[in-house]
Amino acid sequence: MSHLFLIGFMGAGKSTVGQILADRLGLPFVDLDSRIEAHAGRSVVEIFDAEGEQGFRLRESEALAGLAEASSSVVACGGGVVLADENRRLLQEMGRVIYLAVSSGEALARIGDTTGRPLLERGDASAMAATLLRAREVLYRTVADVTIDTGGLSPEAVADVVYEALQAEERQGSAS
Ligand code: S3P
Repeated sequence: MSHLFLIGFMGAGKSTVGQILADRLGLPFVDLDSRIEAHAGRSVVEIFDAEGEQGFRLRESEALAGLAEASSSVVACGGGVVLADENRRLLQEMGRVIYLAVSSGEALARIGDTTGRPLLERGDASAMAATLLRAREVLYRTVADVTIDTGGLSPEAVADVVYEALQAEERQGSAS
């Protein structure tokens, strides 16, 4: 098992790019939030409401750890997956980690309606997004094998850059 994990802030394009990459690589696509929802039998918003962020994070860590048993896939992770030390360890242990970097302003523009993103509904969305991203940026960069600046790029263009980066890594690997 070796997964390709896409990490980054809400609105970075992880799910859209992940689906394109999965098709291109001939691998299954896994959306970690969808897994959590299917397992919990409730939506992310309902989990936050009923169990708080802490309850959601526990479920997120369980879902991530569960991938150790799964066959290789492309995984779109929720934006907060990097918060727990253990999750960061698992990400690095279970595959390659790609950070799709985006500014908080562009992320919000891509998201549009923040309904369904409980962390952005706690106050002024743009201030929340900026604060959260500032706190997480270092974690995203620390855990990533490859960082891609997605600013101004379409999902297809981002997928192209990721694909090229993986091919280049493979060439380097086989040359050494
Ligand atoms: C979160 C991001 C969301 C979801 C949850 C928490 C976060 O996923 O996991 O609302 O902490 O950034 P997306 O990044 O797919 O929106």
